Amino acid sequence: MQFTEAQMKQYDRDGFLVVEGMFEAAEVAAMKRELVRIQAIDTDHLVRERAGGVAKTIYRVHEADGPTASMLFRNAALSPRLLGGAQQLLGDDALYIHHTKCNLKTAIDGSVWQWHQDYGAWKRDGIARPDMTTALVMLDEPTPMSGCLYFIPGSHRLGDLASEMDDRTTAYRLWIVPKADLVRIMETSPEPVAITGAPGTVVFFHCNILHASGHNLSRHDRWHLYYVYNPVVNRPLDVPNPRPDYVRSRNWAPLVPGSDDILAAAPAVASV
Ligand code: SIN
Ligand code: MN
Repeated sequence: MQFTEAQMKQYDRDGFLVVEGMFEAAEVAAMKRELVRIQAIDTDHLVRERAGGVAKTIYRVHEADGPTASMLFRNAALSPRLLGGAQQLLGDDALYIHHTKCNLKTAIDGSVWQWHQDYGAWKRDGIARPDMTTALVMLDEPTPMSGCLYFIPGSHRLGDLASEMDDRTTAYRLWIVPKADLVRIMETSPEPVAITGAPGTVVFFHCNILHASGHNLSRHDRWHLYYVYNPVVNRPLDVPNPRPDYVRSRNWAPLVPGSDDILAAAPAVASV
């Protein structure tokens, strides 16, 4: 992946960059089959919705070992499409993955993600600088009805905002931006943008951009995959009571770029 100067400027200005058609239909279908397989596994790497008990988030699909390991997702993590894009956006070739998460916002059951900045959690993981980028891979066609993501363009330039822990709204504990601060910020910011697109679209976004998504009210799944890239030099410092490795990786070895042929070495999996 090689971004143009205009794309780099857009990412700096807006805090996100949408790239359509980065993964082909066969690749997206293989990823969905992998998630059908993995979500049946009984592991603490997986958070289930309070309602319905379906998977909300699955972690650590990119490593070569562990209960949720997947060669396909590892291949994608190392592909020049994703890794090369992250290296260019971060201006650093030595990256590792802080975590991967698959947010399976499933039809009807899939729940809200409140307004937050990702760095609100990651600074508490001991990461000193907000120099991280996330690659979101759309596995369905997210819409406002199915709970697509919303970004406030340019909000990454507000810096590191105060946050509070919300462990009540969903089964997932989240550091959120308090309502009074949010309303004040929204009064003077561009309108939030709905991040919609065809399956296979990738969106790179800055770790300080304000984002949220609503409940999935539709009959369609809204499955997203997230790769969080961080420069090795920005790896976490020691913190008391660190979160588990599946969400705060300690595998800080620089990623070695692989091939864009991500299906080549992927194991055969049962069809959906
Ligand atoms: C997140 O912000 O981490 C997840 C949001 C979503 O998947 O809708
Ligand atoms: Mn987030």
